[in-house]
Amino acid sequence: MLENLIKERGLMPIWDEKAQSWEERRKEIIDLLCMEEYGFMPKEHDSLSWEVIPQDYIFCAGRARISKVILTAHFGEDSFSFPIYTSIPERKEKVPFFVHINFRDAVPDRYLPVEEICDRGYAVVSFCYNDVTMDEQTCKLESDPLVEILYKGVEKQPYHAGKIRMWAWAASRALDYALTLECLDPDRAAVIGHSRLGKTALVAGMLDERFKMVISNDSGCSGAAILRGKKGEMIEKITNVFPHWFCDNYKKYAGKEDEQPFDQHFLVAASAPRHVYVASAELDWWADPVSEFLSCYAADEVYRKLGLTGFVCEDVIPQPLCKYQEGMIGYHVRTGDHYLGREDWNLYIDYMDKHFGA
Ligand code: GCU
Repeated sequence: MLENLIKERGLMPIWDEKAQSWEERRKEIIDLLCMEEYGFMPKEHDSLSWEVIPQDYIFCAGRARISKVILTAHFGEDSFSFPIYTSIPERKEKVPFFVHINFRDAVPDRYLPVEEICDRGYAVVSFCYNDVTMDEQTCKLESDPLVEILYKGVEKQPYHAGKIRMWAWAASRALDYALTLECLDPDRAAVIGHSRLGKTALVAGMLDERFKMVISNDSGCSGAAILRGKKGEMIEKITNVFPHWFCDNYKKYAGKEDEQPFDQHFLVAASAPRHVYVASAELDWWADPVSEFLSCYAADEVYRKLGLTGFVCEDVIPQPLCKYQEGMIGYHVRTGDHYLGREDWNLYIDYMDKHFGA
């Protein structure tokens, strides 16, 4: 049944027989998705420095430590700073951790139940996306320090970074810092985001192989959901309302999803052979749970070719609560609406415990 649905939607295969290896094909896919959808950074930073500001209150009954850290990226004579927050359980052994790209800087936050996460032995490094670059359409250069630095002396091109790419860049900087901490386990580093930030987490995971687990929560259009045959939001809508999320090239596919030389299952597969997890919510029709699920099914192609267990599922459209956690592609659909809640976090942690060892 699912195989037929994929055919009906006209999805193209991810693997190209001309490619010598997955490594080579993966690079082509990254270039394609950057060129046509998310954009390339116009400039790279040279180095990163930081200042740690411990928070002086008892958290989690003293079982976890929270710190604020100001990261500064240096670009030649220019520099850009933004705050991140680390929430780390007190354990003897190294702990697995999430880099959480959030809508707010609060810790805890309604999308970040830090006490529950720390109690399960996981740490979180989080930051607010607006502290990196504002989620605004009309971005005046002088009012947005990162954008100003990136485009200083650079003529903006249609393939240059939209905001999703810039937030993904920031997730990698948060990871740079996290990897300097002895108490965090580099082999169990995950990146996670919800909705527009789920799209961002997929892009960050695609680009940065140090993320061993990539989690997209309700990311929908231009995130995990395949666009061919999708319901709810499509490219025309998203590029009208949020043109700044993407590179300018992306607009040309508005109403022409079938002409894209890719679809969003490329983005899900671009983290292979690492672990990737897509989650949907039953009532989230705008994101379209079925198209998110089919994307996982289609991305399995790459894992199969690599001789790995990718997506293990039944041959039906899943109903809540359905969780598929056997393979390297994880998936769940829960009841309720668009949200990143404790139920989602617990399922991600169950999956990580299972695949990376508790
Ligand atoms: C809007 C947008 C979605 C996005 C969501 C969010 O609904 O259309 O693409 O995922 O905002 O980020 O909350």
